[in-house]
Amino acid sequence: MQISFRAVRVLPKRAKAHIWIVTSETVAAGLPQISPRDLENDDFSGKAGQLYTWPNEGRIAVLAGVGPRAAVDSDKMRRAGAAIGRRMAKQNWIGVDLPDVELDGAASRRALVEGIALGGYKFLAYKSEGEPAKLSRVDIAGGAGAANAEAVELGKAVAEAQMLARDFVNEPGGTLTAPEFADRAAAVGRDRGLSVKVWDETAIADAGLGGILGVNRGSALPPRLLELAYDPPEPANGTLALVGKGIVFDAGGLSIKTGQGMMTMKCDMGGGAAVIGAMSAMSRIAPAARIRAFVPMTDNMLGGDATRPGDVLKIRNGKTIEVLNTDAEGRLILADALSLASESEPDAIIDLATLTGACMVALGPKIAGLMGNDDDWIEAVKLASEVSGERVWHLPLPADYSKQFESSVADMKNIGTPHGGALTAGLILQEFVAEGIPWVHLDIAGPAWSDSDEAEITKGGTGFGVRLLIELAKNFGHFRRQQSVGERADDSAGQPAG
Ligand code: BES
Ligand code: MN
Ligand code: ZN
Repeated sequence: MQISFRAVRVLPKRAKAHIWIVTSETVAAGLPQISPRDLENDDFSGKAGQLYTWPNEGRIAVLAGVGPRAAVDSDKMRRAGAAIGRRMAKQNWIGVDLPDVELDGAASRRALVEGIALGGYKFLAYKSEGEPAKLSRVDIAGGAGAANAEAVELGKAVAEAQMLARDFVNEPGGTLTAPEFADRAAAVGRDRGLSVKVWDETAIADAGLGGILGVNRGSALPPRLLELAYDPPEPANGTLALVGKGIVFDAGGLSIKTGQGMMTMKCDMGGGAAVIGAMSAMSRIAPAARIRAFVPMTDNMLGGDATRPGDVLKIRNGKTIEVLNTDAEGRLILADALSLASESEPDAIIDLATLTGACMVALGPKIAGLMGNDDDWIEAVKLASEVSGERVWHLPLPADYSKQFESSVADMKNIGTPHGGALTAGLILQEFVAEGIPWVHLDIAGPAWSDSDEAEITKGGTGFGVRLLIELAKNFGHFRRQQSVGERADDSAGQPAG
């Protein structure tokens, strides 16, 4: 169900629920409608994400906490929204009243809308008796002006993009095969006014995308490479390239995973899904930069002619890789995609990939590993992550670790030594980014999937990275201006004094 969100002046009389967002201070000071004892009995103190409900004049009245006034930020507001979205799934029309807090009105509204939509998300495609959420209308009180309406629209666009990514991830690998993934994503792209190109197996072979072909070799189904492009009317801010890992199911190939290890491996296209989700919102976000997206798609299976450990693949940019572990397949398909992305001569590249279990060991299930080759671009991605609330942590790319993947038969092998696997994976990817192009890699092996509901996250595919990518695209001009300032400084430093 698509929810219609709007910015309104006051709570609508006819809404089925009236919801007041409240700070801890407001609760502590006492509310006229409700006795302090009742709140206390229910352990309601106004913490972010807490709800207190009671029947009131034929309607449900709700208090939704955002915690201490001074600490209210987008995360807290999104968390409050998610609690509302979950609990109000059975109502069709709700009204929400915002408190007066430090967080500005636009950011408050955007985060609230994101939370309500994402918290109420359900994947019901295969549930014969699943109950779809009834929520169809959400009015946000406190002002119907253009700025508020725009913030509400932005929140809705972002949340819908993220839910599209979740739908893709949650779709089983046997249904969302590579050809099916490409078709569905292409349909979305066309519907949203993007340029769409689907490379089939012939085009992939003709272009020398040997990494994709090598991983696909054990599959009964052909691979795809999806290219999407957003072109603004006036591309004042250059070109940003997005790359996403699109392994629709990772069995590990002949270096097969355990049964336990492949239970969630339909999520191995989570990076690709995030890229496609973000692209689906571009015409609504309307950044002034060109955005190019590349998503290589295949499963990683064990057919009779599957890539054998010891096989050598030749990647698009001419470099060769000896495959010693077929389960390190993400870097092989990304090598081709990063080479292609580099050829499009973007001003920066970001890739998202469920790349290594090692990154989960390092950072746990909620934080993505960030690696990159350019300080300004890394800073830009970190900033976008702070705004979006999707956490990243900067990890190094130690040049001397590259020795680990020296091969005696090819330019490199596809694995390093057992420790620091997230870093060797990052270093291998770096081999396929053309010199001089700022690049960031996000290893989202942990946060692409969740085993439980929490705040705006729902169990299963999370759509991690969609909000971050949209934020990056929106602000790409800042990064570009910063770079040109940097270049001018470099130029003058090189000039003789006087
Ligand atoms: N898709 C996996 C990584 C992964 C693991 C993602 C768990 C999400 C949750 C990736 O293709 C993989 O199998 N990586 C190997 C690399 C190793 C063989 C060098 C890994 O991490 O074990
Ligand atoms: Mn693998
Ligand atoms: Zn994988």
